[in-house]
Amino acid sequence: MSRISLTTLRQMKQEGEKIAALTAYDASFARLIEDAGVEVLLVGDSLGMVVQGQASTTPVSLDEMVYHCALVSRGSQRALLIADLPFLSYTSPQQALASAARLMKEGGAQMVKLEGGAVMVDTVAQLAAQGVPVCAHLGLLPQSVHKLGGYRIQGREASDAEQILADALAMEQAGADLLVLECVPRALARQISEAVSMPVIGIGAGPDTDGQVLVLYDMLGITPGKRPKFSHDFVADTGAIDKALAAYTSQVKSGDFPAAKHCFD
Ligand code: KIV
Repeated sequence: MSRISLTTLRQMKQEGEKIAALTAYDASFARLIEDAGVEVLLVGDSLGMVVQGQASTTPVSLDEMVYHCALVSRGSQRALLIADLPFLSYTSPQQALASAARLMKEGGAQMVKLEGGAVMVDTVAQLAAQGVPVCAHLGLLPQSVHKLGGYRIQGREASDAEQILADALAMEQAGADLLVLECVPRALARQISEAVSMPVIGIGAGPDTDGQVLVLYDMLGITPGKRPKFSHDFVADTGAIDKALAAYTSQVKSGDFPAAKHCFD
């Protein structure tokens, strides 16, 4: 079975076929998610919260990311495997290269994701020059939660929206191949998705991006406490994990998820 490649994802964007992505943290779920037809597995540092019970993603270490990435990699045969560079593991291009090397060589990732815009241009350029595929992450940046003062929608003010658009263009120019856009108004997500050639995967960004991603435990309804407005409990709808994963994939593909109630204006 051949793996989904960046070429496949770019082609899907061009043809208007929505990309389905989910986070994964272990081999068993990786297999189930792939069986449902999801194209992208993200070993997200959200594992700090949903697996480790931490209050944010900031305590997650590179060793822990490598460990979970290796588990997911063992359970996966088809999806493109992206791993998060954890907080403060990419403070310079050199450190980012060393961290990415571990996620790819030991963890089996095919791409790394990092948070931040213009400030990350040199780092993204260095990674790209060394053949490391990069997924940029803009909008709400969970690793900066203590600086932002909470998990809030980003880009509602015109100047913030302009900055996020400029950051997206700068990331693409620097060599990023994919963009995750989190928690921004629907209209801004649409504008950015049209402005860049790289595929844009949204979370809390409305239905007009090139694909969708959710935190697995949110969409299975097992994340403790309050879950984000943009998420949806597909197990509550379907009654079983495999059916929930299939419903998510089919609703992303049809454009039925996210619905208006999951979006921000
Ligand atoms: O860590 C994660 O799960 C993520 C998603 C929220 C996109 O970055």
